Amino acid sequence: MITARAHTNIALVKYWGKKDQKLIIPQTDSLSLTLNEFYADTSVEFRDDLTADHIEIDGHVVTGHAADKVINFLNIIRKLSGKNSYANVISTNHVPISAGLASSASAFAALATAASKAAGLELDRRDLSRLARRGSGSATRSIYGGLVEWHRGTDDLTSFAEPIMENVDFGIEMIALLLNTSKKKVSSRQGMQSSVETSPYYPAWHKVVAHDMVAMKRAINNQDIDQIGHIAEKNALRMHALTLSADPGYTYFNGETIRAIQAINDLRSQGISCYYTMDAGPNVKVIYDRKNRSKIIEYLGKLFGQEKLIVSKPGPGVKIISK
Ligand code: DP6
Repeated sequence: MITARAHTNIALVKYWGKKDQKLIIPQTDSLSLTLNEFYADTSVEFRDDLTADHIEIDGHVVTGHAADKVINFLNIIRKLSGKNSYANVISTNHVPISAGLASSASAFAALATAASKAAGLELDRRDLSRLARRGSGSATRSIYGGLVEWHRGTDDLTSFAEPIMENVDFGIEMIALLLNTSKKKVSSRQGMQSSVETSPYYPAWHKVVAHDMVAMKRAINNQDIDQIGHIAEKNALRMHALTLSADPGYTYFNGETIRAIQAINDLRSQGISCYYTMDAGPNVKVIYDRKNRSKIIEYLGKLFGQEKLIVSKPGPGVKIISK
């Protein structure tokens, strides 16, 4: 049995839309920070005595749609490796509390790494990143630690991620503010497709991302956390504008999300610099310099409760942790 550990990542320049839905080729490049506090451990073995794939996540046997996603992914690996047997897959999400942050990024990065190795494939990180992409787009980036860029590419060979800075030690951190942990109504998969097909602003998103990628890499190079936060916040708001402007329009925000945005704006107007980003759900992630951590925790803790805040430093890339 091979076990791999992969950490989740949060995009600072978002991926929101596919050009090829089957191969998961995105419309744009994207850029993320891998987080230390949230990860998945996934163990895989291929066994000749099994009559079907057996999938267990956080102690529960998985069936239906969730199982199909994993089975389709295992089929890709069977095809690549020539391995014909079924697999036993056991995955555990490590989040400090049951946070609803168990993401497809860490899940498919860990599965790609463990299952390819268990099937006898020896893939380098670029190929692992291409493989993880087939499970979930954001998983492409979770192969690497730190700050990571996903080149959209044009096909299966050219769409992969690369690290920009693997050991990030200039002080950037994130706080996940857990406002709601129930399952989202519109999956990112459906949501982004509807934005591509129906938002009149989608063409502008291409320009936004092209611009933000250049500006973000410059900010990273300068280790300028204020610029990184500012660009990430603006990029997130513009991504969410694609949900409001779709037909039918929708939003991942709830009242608490707006309250958190206002709280972060208030902190900023008090001179404590911090920025926010949101993904396909109501939770808010705060981007800041570690020197401001205690003030941010104190303020947000009073408003939302200390137990809702999880501090995370940048995290590492995927690793095989046992064979
Ligand atoms: C808002 O990677 O979950 O988090 O490729 O369909 O599995 P699929 O989508 P997914 O989408 C992530 C969207 C996002 C932005 C990002 O991570 O870049």
